[in-house]
Amino acid sequence: MASEDVRGPVVTLDGPAGSGKSTTAREVARRLGFRHLDSGALYRALTLALLDSGRPETEWPTMTASALRRLDVRIEPVGGGFRIRIGGREVEDELRSERVTRRVSTLARVPAAREALLGLQREAGRAGSLVADGRDMGTVVFPDAEVKIFLVADLSERARRRLVERTGLEPGPAEVAAEAEAIAERDRADTERAASPLRRPTGALGLDTTGLDFEEQVEAVVAAVRAAGSSGKR
Ligand code: DC
Repeated sequence: MASEDVRGPVVTLDGPAGSGKSTTAREVARRLGFRHLDSGALYRALTLALLDSGRPETEWPTMTASALRRLDVRIEPVGGGFRIRIGGREVEDELRSERVTRRVSTLARVPAAREALLGLQREAGRAGSLVADGRDMGTVVFPDAEVKIFLVADLSERARRRLVERTGLEPGPAEVAAEAEAIAERDRADTERAASPLRRPTGALGLDTTGLDFEEQVEAVVAAVRAAGSSGKR
């Protein structure tokens, strides 16, 4: 449970698809007693809301931020994180569906979509004690965050982790290669777009997780947060 009485820092965790951001961020938040904000889930929720609204994908780039806000994606604090609702309906598993995953980077490129989601994210950070993961947490959403971390990992390792996460099984080389291609495509879309591209925030601590297991990854981030606290950076 996030503690409300002491304002802890905002910790940002940015990095490419499959670098282990969300799972790491969730566990780091749990250990520190902070809340976890998965900003990718908000882009996914807005994508799902658009798909359900029947609005053709070709029209998404021309929509205004206020039209997108009317789709009514909201978050509310719950336990160690946030519950996401679309028009009052709670959504969770649907956000990871293939239907949403295939289209979310189209929406993430639209400046009005980023603007529509900015207020929600900043509001989540107002009370501090937050671990926020995404692509632009340390650059755009929380530029003044006390602790910024940028996760990287080899492409094939990211592909392998994604497949293990999805199927629970160790994949073969051909599967890894196909998944790596799909991830590379999303990396390109995320880093080459004009609106809030994925890049390492100034002052961020870079962490290469390729050779780390989950526990080591979590520990490295927790240690960075504690070190920032004791060096008086916050
Ligand atoms: O981390 P994820 O796979 O749930 O992210 C889904 C998509 O949203 C992905 O294309 C990147 C985009 N995204 C973004 O543009 N900015 C963020 N802060 C988080 C995610």
